[in-house]
Amino acid sequence: MFDRPTILMCPPDFYGIEYEINPWMDRNAPSDADRSRRQWQDLHDLLVSLHVDVQQMQPVRGLPDLVFTANAGLVWHDTVFLSSFRHAARQGETAIDAAWFSTNGFRTIELPAGMYFEGAGDALFCGDTLYAGYLVRSDANAMQWLGQQMGCRVLPLQLVDEHYYHLDTCFCPLDSTSAIYYPPAFDDYARRALSQIPRLIEVHAAEAARFACNAVVVGRDIVLNSGCPRLEAALQQVGFRTHATELDEFLKAGGSAKCLTLRLDGEAAAVWPQAR
Ligand code: ARG
Repeated sequence: MFDRPTILMCPPDFYGIEYEINPWMDRNAPSDADRSRRQWQDLHDLLVSLHVDVQQMQPVRGLPDLVFTANAGLVWHDTVFLSSFRHAARQGETAIDAAWFSTNGFRTIELPAGMYFEGAGDALFCGDTLYAGYLVRSDANAMQWLGQQMGCRVLPLQLVDEHYYHLDTCFCPLDSTSAIYYPPAFDDYARRALSQIPRLIEVHAAEAARFACNAVVVGRDIVLNSGCPRLEAALQQVGFRTHATELDEFLKAGGSAKCLTLRLDGEAAAVWPQAR
């Protein structure tokens, strides 16, 4: 289905801070429409310059967080496990996402009723293991259900800091044996589970708050928010190329580079179990 890295994005035409569902969002600190558009376009163009095929979804008025396509679902081969959002404000996105995926050749699967699940925001493969953030947004039983569907190992990771409410705000697999993470966002058990990854790079508090962990990995190229020089240096030291781009308008909603993207052909770090 894909001959090069392919990423889904949604333009920020209707993006804004219209409600508060995480500690970063403050309706009294609105986003600037022009700056948002410019920052989104720069991220888009940067990905295109890295030979990514960027596909676009039509924005919808009244769904300001639809820009965060990472939350549309979990992509696995030609299947998408659709999100089931915890907060009513985002629940309208699922029908839009489902329509996009069906029109674009994916099989869509909904989770059983009563389970919350927020897609690639909380579920990330590193090697053949699904690392699954739960508690703040997604439910642990949703993650186990997904593991059964895919026939893969699931490592549930409890998130303990409301600022790092999605797994992709505090953890980012780089390849099948390395990842970056922000330790204080996890409980002890999760930190122990993460230590199974051979190369773990720690992100410092100030850069975690710049959403350093919310990076887009395209092979050896890593795209992330500006203001994370220590992480950039650490990544360069182990052979990655880093590309920083200003995304502070999206930080106002609790998002950054990774949240604004959804990899459609499988993350660089993912070694997918066979399709069943
Ligand atoms: N305002 C959105 C929310 O709170 C931001 C989502 C960011 N997405 C992500 N994958 N971390 O749901």
